[in-house]
Amino acid sequence: MKPVALNSKRLILRPPAGSDAERLFELIGNYEVSKMLSVVPHPYTMDDARWWLGQIASDDLAGECAFAIDDGTGLIGAVSLGRHGNEPTLGYWLGQPYWGKGYMMEAAGMALAWFFSVSDAQAIESGALDENPASMSVLTKLGFGHGVARDLNVRARGKVMASTRVFLGREEFVARETA
Ligand SMILES: CC(C)(COP(=O)(O)OP(=O)(O)OC[C@H]1O[C@@H](n2cnc3c(N)ncnc32)[C@H](O)[C@@H]1OP(=O)(O)O)[C@@H](O)C(=O)NCCC(=O)NCCS
Repeated sequence: MKPVALNSKRLILRPPAGSDAERLFELIGNYEVSKMLSVVPHPYTMDDARWWLGQIASDDLAGECAFAIDDGTGLIGAVSLGRHGNEPTLGYWLGQPYWGKGYMMEAAGMALAWFFSVSDAQAIESGALDENPASMSVLTKLGFGHGVARDLNVRARGKVMASTRVFLGREEFVARETA
């Protein structure tokens, strides 16, 4: 899946570009962000930012497809639609200055609508650490449910944490979109 440019009321989703490296380094280098994510290292370096942008551009991340979230000033976060094992998986983050504005509902909702329109997947999974109620609230509002507990390795912390996997079916998503 190749990301395209998508627009909502306040945000643009677009393919990440090499010129996003500085903003990526600055925003995901914040431990308050990376400590909630599974695979992001901390400390985060410019080389890490360049590596990720290079992998995304070359489509080498085992089918992971990522959008930059842009508020018109540049990258403020990202949404990814990857395949871990057989299940398509939604992941996302926003830089800390952009929290609390309802941006992720807007960005992830747009990414999911695109995902279900270009793929034939019947469901997608996501999840959040149990200590991240803001993220679980976003997932619940998007329609994710059927929670299953699992231990998740959090690279920035170097330890395993309690988390909950949740699932969203195509029919549930479409029903909510058209309700
Ligand atoms: C989690 C994250 C994506 C949320 O995005 P956001 O656009 O800031 O979310 P919103 O502004 O819509 O807030 C989400 C909800 O969580 C609530 N919330 C925020 N902080 C909270 C907290 N500490 N405890 C409980 N609820 C909280 C908000 O009030 C809001 O509630 P509502 O759904 O009833 O309106 C964003 O904070 C983020 O990127 N965090 C760091 C990385 C991360 O956690 N990524 C997800 C990994 S699973």
